[in-house]
Amino acid sequence: MAHPYVLLSAAVSLDGFLDDTGPERLLLSGPEDFDRVDEVRAGSDAILVGAGTVRTDNPRLLVNSARRRAARVAAGLPEYPLKVTVSVSGDLDPEALFWHTGGAKTVYSTDKGAERLRGRLPAGVEVVALGPDMQWRDVLGHLGDVKGVRRLMVEGGGQVHTQLLRQGLADELQLAVAPLFVGEAGAPRMFGPGAYPPGRMRLVEARVVGDVVLMRYVPTAPGTGRLAFAADRRWLEAACELAAQCPPSRTAFSVGAVIVAADGTELARAHSREGGDAVVHAEEAALAKLDPADPRLAAATVYSSLEPCARRASRPAPCARLIIDAGVRRVVTAWREPDTFVASADGNALLAAQGVDVVVLPEYEDLAKAPNAHLLPPATRT
Ligand SMILES: NC(=O)c1ccc[n+]([C@@H]2O[C@H](COP(=O)([O-])OP(=O)(O)OC[C@H]3O[C@@H](n4cnc5c(N)ncnc54)[C@H](OP(=O)(O)O)[C@@H]3O)[C@@H](O)[C@H]2O)c1
Repeated sequence: MAHPYVLLSAAVSLDGFLDDTGPERLLLSGPEDFDRVDEVRAGSDAILVGAGTVRTDNPRLLVNSARRRAARVAAGLPEYPLKVTVSVSGDLDPEALFWHTGGAKTVYSTDKGAERLRGRLPAGVEVVALGPDMQWRDVLGHLGDVKGVRRLMVEGGGQVHTQLLRQGLADELQLAVAPLFVGEAGAPRMFGPGAYPPGRMRLVEARVVGDVVLMRYVPTAPGTGRLAFAADRRWLEAACELAAQCPPSRTAFSVGAVIVAADGTELARAHSREGGDAVVHAEEAALAKLDPADPRLAAATVYSSLEPCARRASRPAPCARLIIDAGVRRVVTAWREPDTFVASADGNALLAAQGVDVVVLPEYEDLAKAPNAHLLPPATRT
């Protein structure tokens, strides 16, 4: 399933609250930051909030700038992004402004919640039932595959942000810190207690916007087992980009590899034919940069733009074997090895047979193939 890019967006007080406990919505951003948020909305295919925010804030979630709406229309997009909410219970007020403003709306719910909602919401609102329990991966899969959403902006509230971040489904976090305190123990926080992906997120931008500071973070911690996290996509993309740095060859693929510890620390990276070695493979070169006794290897993930090789003529040990022998138990790759040099190579199966979790993200296949187009039959180059 093709998940959209998921951007979590919120404003918080200096003491980390999303709101106070009063009946009115607390305005944390200033005019400049509201305008920035408007721009982010205009650049999104859909905006999602939890049912709690619909009930508490009664938001419209519009693109307010006429100029930005006109630019969307000129680009062939709907005037407003799709509005999306999620509710287990189906307890949503049909009079809420959410339903009566902007463009198309979709609500995801459980079978029971959807039953409760059907016929109660205004005409044209789509109600999607996702089984007895709702899973975020199903919501994102439906948004990507069925609704064609490529970029999803999530505007709260705390429960929704917490779940998406904890489940490794957030590609980016945009946090605006406002210069005021809430100071109420019962006020909602952006993130609740519980287990989050380990390690440090990466700060990619800090910007002053009026009197707030915007911070943009991306996740770094790889997923676990065969579940792909947002950070896995980021690291695999880095591996695919490394492949483009390989010295050209007519007799071997150009491949990039990155090895990442469970806490998101990059351990090593390499590409094929690195350092003047005409036959070295990317995974082999990256592993060679590490002490084989490094205790982080056992929980590390190897990202390789191409499936690790199962057989090779140039050296005795193929990369799948090197990975297994290094004690690595998780591999993420973009592209299955074609028969160009070795018929029916199946490095992924070799890895899986030894208990390695292999995750294939085919959405990066074209990027992995790009520096190898000259080696592929025209029909498979894409
Ligand atoms: N400062 C900001 O930028 C900002 C932005 C947005 C919101 N907020 C604040 O955040 C507060 C609301 O946050 P909140 O945590 O109470 O609510 P929320 O995250 O907006 O929504 C929680 C609700 O979403 C539904 N939900 C949660 N997980 C679900 C799942 N896995 N599947 C299906 N439905 C699911 C449930 O609805 P049901 O109960 O219907 O089952 C749940 O009660 C408000 O005070 C608001 O002002 C602040």
